[in-house]
Amino acid sequence: MCGIIGYVGHRPATPVVMEGLRRLEYRGYDSAGVAWMTPGKINIARASGKLRALEEKLSRMPAITSTCAMGHTRWATHGEPAERNAHPHLSNDSSLAVVHNGIIENYRELKKFLLEKGHQFYSDTDTEVLVHLIAERRKTEPDLLRAFAAALSEAKGAYAVCLLSADHPDTVYAARMSAPLIVGLGTGENFIASDIPAFLPYTREVMFLEDGEIVRATASSCEAMSLRDLKPLPKEKHTIQWNLQDAQKDGYKHFMLKEIFEQPRVIKDGMTGRADGETGDVKIPELDNAPIPGRIHIVACGTSYHAGLWGKALIENLADIPAEAEIASEFRYKNKFLRDPGEVALFISQSGETADTLAALRIMKQRGVPTIGVCNVVGSSIAREADYTIFTQAGPEISVASTKAMTSQMICLALMALYWGKRKRTLERNRIRETLDILFSLPAALDDNLPEMRKRANELAKKYAAFRNFFYLGRGVGYPLALEGALKLKELSYIHAEGYAAGEMKHGPIALIDPEFPTFAMAFQDDLLEKVKSNIEEVVSRGGKVIVLSNGAPAAKAADAWLIPPVDGAFAAFMALPALQLFSYEVADYLGKDVDQPRNLAKSVTVE
Ligand code: G6P
Repeated sequence: MCGIIGYVGHRPATPVVMEGLRRLEYRGYDSAGVAWMTPGKINIARASGKLRALEEKLSRMPAITSTCAMGHTRWATHGEPAERNAHPHLSNDSSLAVVHNGIIENYRELKKFLLEKGHQFYSDTDTEVLVHLIAERRKTEPDLLRAFAAALSEAKGAYAVCLLSADHPDTVYAARMSAPLIVGLGTGENFIASDIPAFLPYTREVMFLEDGEIVRATASSCEAMSLRDLKPLPKEKHTIQWNLQDAQKDGYKHFMLKEIFEQPRVIKDGMTGRADGETGDVKIPELDNAPIPGRIHIVACGTSYHAGLWGKALIENLADIPAEAEIASEFRYKNKFLRDPGEVALFISQSGETADTLAALRIMKQRGVPTIGVCNVVGSSIAREADYTIFTQAGPEISVASTKAMTSQMICLALMALYWGKRKRTLERNRIRETLDILFSLPAALDDNLPEMRKRANELAKKYAAFRNFFYLGRGVGYPLALEGALKLKELSYIHAEGYAAGEMKHGPIALIDPEFPTFAMAFQDDLLEKVKSNIEEVVSRGGKVIVLSNGAPAAKAADAWLIPPVDGAFAAFMALPALQLFSYEVADYLGKDVDQPRNLAKSVTVE
């Protein structure tokens, strides 16, 4: 939800900032803007729409040589996606500029106060109050850092904010409260950004900011302080292991396609160091000091929730632990949390920053429930705040539609189920070894089959792209996949799609079936296959067209069969998921949609 970057150093700053924004565009793309310093002056350029529009605007301007700048890419919350609402926002005397990610919840009261004080507003955003409030506090507090901190202490809500001041042309100020902000430490240059890829071409040395921290960065120094009293804070430096290659398209047409094809590698990396095929052992040292759950709440949003729903069945079946999968935005507002001895809460989040998941984590921590985070982004809030954190090792996921992250989460969940089964002694060594054998076979099987799957996805996409509605049906392991398949189709191609438990169709939804309303059915070789077949027949006999995704003999008199490699039990999901992803990808690409940046979405949802 919005990406921000600040740069101060020895390079021309606006190209650095623009490149950073390109890498942050997954966070929002309703408008973009930059601010840069020239002696005694802050200059800004803003444009509504994607970064391209801002690039064009800048290309028509004289070359900018400033070495201090900041930028913003917006996912609109308050105020329509118009240029006047684009960041940066300036104080009335143009001596201060801010970019902001988050929501200032008390902006109405603050705006009323500031209007009374004579400040003029030019946007409908909550953010604009911040810059006027800093200007207002500066009237009585000439020290900019103190005025900045004073203003922030009055703001309620979430913010990652960067500030430039005409009086300090070689300094970037920034602060964080409930929105991600990371400092990149270079040689003779420093960066502040919402996410690491923004500055990855220049440095891998980072400092993670915590809530309630403020920084002052120049080309040669970077001080972190507490927002409360401006006391310096000792901060640890971390080295990021990703390389730039991971954050590039690598010849693929879209990041999404690249990330789908990375899944064999992601499965391998997720198991490295955790699963030993020889001895049949599973090790998750991150959990060795955590209690074995007596009951587990799996809490997440979006695609991560679907991974959780899939993992719930595995944890129940392999580890014999009762599990619930819950949507974070619902879970956090339960008005009664029933106490359960031995309960553990597990939070799945690719970004580690999703506001609802983070809030749910904090609630459970407050209640004294042990918390486990399953995250992809190192240094993210959930990764840092959970009592125990497991990293999914998927590498940066850039496409807004999540693909490889789900696969990596499923691998972690499968290993956790085995690990707890081992610790509880409910699983025999042989069973663990057999399961690991299946998991170890996945990368090669997927590698061999992804090109063929893409071909089939492309054929089917051409045939089905004109339909306006879809059902996705599944039972058991197929149900979370049906939900995920439907989600992928709607978010990428804007075709209405509903994921449904196949057995529920006859309780109403089947009334919708006609030749214009196709169904995508998951029919895997498991105990539920016969039931699924009957459900497919029920649809076919009402004139519905069906694509049947199966990992064995054709499941029914289907309009279109799609055979994927056979993999046992719940693990069929590792073959079916990429097929579903590829179908949605091909439909969206065929329809000319913006695959990596679907409308109205953002990758990291840091607001409620
Ligand atoms: C957004 C993204 C989804 C993602 C969800 C949860 O909606 O577009 O792809 O699944 O957030 O994100 P998280 O980072 O918590 O996994």
